[in-house]
This record gives sequence, C-alpha cells and structure tokens, in this order.
Amino acid sequence: MHATLLNGMNEHLKLEFKASHEYLAMSVWLAGHDLPGFASWMRKQSNDELLHAQKFVDHMLERDQPIELPAVAKPPMAWDSVEALCTHLLANEQAVTSSINELYALAETAKDRPAVILLQWFVNEQMEEEAAARALLGRIRLGGTGVGLLMIDQELAKGTVPGMPAESAGGSAA
Ligand code: FEO
Repeated sequence: MHATLLNGMNEHLKLEFKASHEYLAMSVWLAGHDLPGFASWMRKQSNDELLHAQKFVDHMLERDQPIELPAVAKPPMAWDSVEALCTHLLANEQAVTSSINELYALAETAKDRPAVILLQWFVNEQMEEEAAARALLGRIRLGGTGVGLLMIDQELAKGTVPGMPAESAGGSAA
C-alpha cells in the first residue's frame, strides 16, 4: 500500500476510536439525565464506531500492512444541554467525513482499488451518519426542552425519528 495512504488510514483510526469513546461518554451523560432513548441510541453509535475502526484494521491486516493502534484521549463527560451534545457529535461526524474524503482522494491517486472499494462504503456511511445527526439536532432545535425532549427520547427509543435515515434510526442494534 502507498505509504501516504497507509499512514492516513492509521491516523484515521484515531478518529473512529475517539468517536466511539465520545458516543459512549454521551450515552453515560444522557442516561444520567433520564433520557434512556437517547442513551441507547448513543450506545449503538459507539458500538458502530468500533466496528468502523475494525473495518480499517481488517483491511490493513488482510493486506499485511503495519497497524498502529492509537491512544484514546479522555472524552468530555458533561455538556451544557442536549443541544450542545448533539452539536458536538455533528462536528465529530463532519471531521470523520473530511478524513474519509481525504483518504478516498489518496486511494484514487494511488489507484488502490481495494482501498477505494473500502472507502466507498465509508463515504455512504458518513453521509447517513451526518444526515442522522442533522435530523436529531433539527428535532432538538425545534422542541428539545421539557415535554418535547421526552417526545424525541421516545422517537429514538422506537427508532422512528422523522428525517433520520432508517439505517441510523433503528432503536435496536442494526
Ligand atoms: Fe465512523 Fe461516525 O464515524
């Protein structure tokens, strides 16, 4: 594998582990604020992020490439509001998307077809994850206090958040 692309994939692992860790921290904070629908959705996102990291690890392993597992920084453990938390997670997803797009460009330049195919999956996944985060933030901005917040919590628990891609909304693992 081209050295720049390999280095980029190893660097990208940091973002996936960070995202997993931060979603888990968000889940903990939301559970502590009596929002179980939000908490379980964030827990599922945390698990998905670990799977994303593993997809990169498996890709590099299958191609007999060296892997550098990163240190994972302590995540923030508190937010001023659910809206602030969701703004934070959208920014995280946007940072992951930028990194995926850079990797995709490197893979294309290197004419590395296996990497391009792997990254195509991630391009779609990021589109979905950003759409889900924006849909959630939109609901919260419209009515994310008091009873409105309880309603959104129920929507998340049932996996029926209006405007969220079905793959991302699923209340149970999907
Ligand atoms: Fe794997 Fe949501 O980035």
